[in-house]
Formats: sequence, structure tokens, C-alpha cells
Amino acid sequence: MSENLGRRDVLAYTGIALGVTAVAGCQTYGKPPAAASQAPPPAPDGGAKTDGGPAKTDGGLVKTSAVPVGSGVIVGEVVVTQPTAGVFKGFSTTCTHQGCAVTTVADGTINCPCHGSKFNLDGTVVQGPAKKPLAVKAVQVQGDSIVLG
Ligand code: FES
Repeated sequence: MSENLGRRDVLAYTGIALGVTAVAGCQTYGKPPAAASQAPPPAPDGGAKTDGGPAKTDGGLVKTSAVPVGSGVIVGEVVVTQPTAGVFKGFSTTCTHQGCAVTTVADGTINCPCHGSKFNLDGTVVQGPAKKPLAVKAVQVQGDSIVLG
């Protein structure tokens, strides 16, 4: 009797062992081809380099064409304006009131969000509480770009 139970036990354990092997086998062979599914898709434009934005230039602050006449753009810590066609000016974004960063150029003024100061496109104060103009950052046109200097 105990010999029969022993046989059954052996068969049962063998079945479990085979089942585990079969499951393990499925896990090994059932894996999807991970390397193929993780490869990046090909670039739709044939691999053209992107530099983080259409307005930026290699080594320059911004393309001249990205600075509207009678307005300006903020590039990092520099405000670049074009008060009249072909005339570009640069200023620090640090507001002269209490040091907030100006954040917008709209309706012909450079605007500080903290207490409402507004500056002309030449950096002078339009509306306080700021009393001093924005600090000048020298910029120049180099090719089709605006560069510091
Ligand atoms: Fe700009 Fe006060 S810090 S208005």
C-alpha cells in the first residue's frame, strides 16, 4: 500500500515538475523580441536635426525673422526687441523694480508680472513701480541671427 502511495506521490511530483518546466519553457520562449520593439521609429523627415525650437540658431540667441517689428521675444535671460525694422536691441529680463523676470512682450511693451511695471522696446520705463530702465545687453546681427556682443 505504501508502495502504491509512493508511486502516486512520485507521479504527482513528476507531473508538477513537468508542469513547472513547461511553464518555465513558455516564459523563456514566449518573450516578445524586446530589442526590436524598443528601437526608435525612423525620423519622419529623414533624420533632420532638431535644435529645440524653430526660432533658435546655432550659437545665436534667435533668428532675426523670429523677432517681430514693433515687438520682441524673450530668449532665456535676454529680451530681444525690434522697435523699427532692422533695429534690434537687447535687455536683461531682470525687472529694475524688485528683480522679477519680465515674462512677456505684448502691445509694444515689455511686461513684468510681479507688480505691473512696463518697459518700452528701448528698455525705458512706461509704467512703474520700476523707475530705472532695463539693463542693456549688447546684441548684434550676425547673418540671419541675433547674437550677444
Ligand atoms: Fe517688476 Fe516689481 S519686480 S514690477
